[in-house]
Amino acid sequence: MLLEVTALRASYDGREVLHGIDLAVDRGDVVAVIGPSGSGKTTLLRTLNFLERADAGRMRFAGREFEITHMKRADILAIRRRTAFVFQNYNLFLNKTALENITEGLVTGRGMDKTAACERARQLLARFGLSGHENAYPGELSGGQQQRVAIARALAPSPDIIYFDEPTSALDPELTRDVLEILCALAREGLTMIVVTHELAFARGIAGRVLFMEQGAVVEEGSAAEIFSHPRQPRTAQFLKTLSADQAAF
Ligand SMILES: Nc1ncnc2c1ncn2[C@@H]1O[C@H](COP(=O)(O)OP(=O)(O)O)[C@@H](O)[C@H]1O
Ligand SMILES: [Mg+2]
Repeated sequence: MLLEVTALRASYDGREVLHGIDLAVDRGDVVAVIGPSGSGKTTLLRTLNFLERADAGRMRFAGREFEITHMKRADILAIRRRTAFVFQNYNLFLNKTALENITEGLVTGRGMDKTAACERARQLLARFGLSGHENAYPGELSGGQQQRVAIARALAPSPDIIYFDEPTSALDPELTRDVLEILCALAREGLTMIVVTHELAFARGIAGRVLFMEQGAVVEEGSAAEIFSHPRQPRTAQFLKTLSADQAAF
């Protein structure tokens, strides 16, 4: 296993919103997380990446095991260097160009030399159809282009795992398609990822495993075929029914 968490709990202002999550991700796994708004999906990803502090739980990452509330800063940093996060709203540096958004972390975070970092950034931008936009600022790019820059930035240091938090939910349908195609390509290449998404057809196509979350707990977990075609829990079935009716309405 690359990543394993057990009994992960998290809260905001004393109100617990993750009530003991267990999750295991092997190298090359694509795990989709689905569930209604407010069920704790974002908090789960943010906690896994130490953007929020958990209240309890154990984490194993790349063979090392930690009590998550007792981790040394150096251990957290070591894990964060091997993970990346793609946000719903891109979270690009608005005062940096597309190229600089990618090179910044490589140069200051990883100590890569500037020429190598620029070369890596250019390659990734070209791969994602953004050649010619190297010097554009986020404000000059469409949402889909910004998200592709954000994915390039996440990929640039070759992380072991990328956490995607609803990467297309801020995008129009045609821009959504481009971003989903990129995720599918990365999955085929063996990138390990956890993707929170409401795009059911995409989740079904890409995910080896699907988790359905509700109210801070994993209600059901299984293969895409199990969850989408034969959900065992009535709550999973109800959620899928409502969401697919919404998506069919488009
Ligand atoms: N920064 C925050 N401060 C306080 N409560 C929060 C914060 N972020 C999320 N919550 C609450 O935690 C719960 C889980 O939220 P979240 O993880 O964002 O769910 P999801 O991503 O599934 O919509 C919700 O009840 C939400 O209102
Ligand atoms: Mg969320």
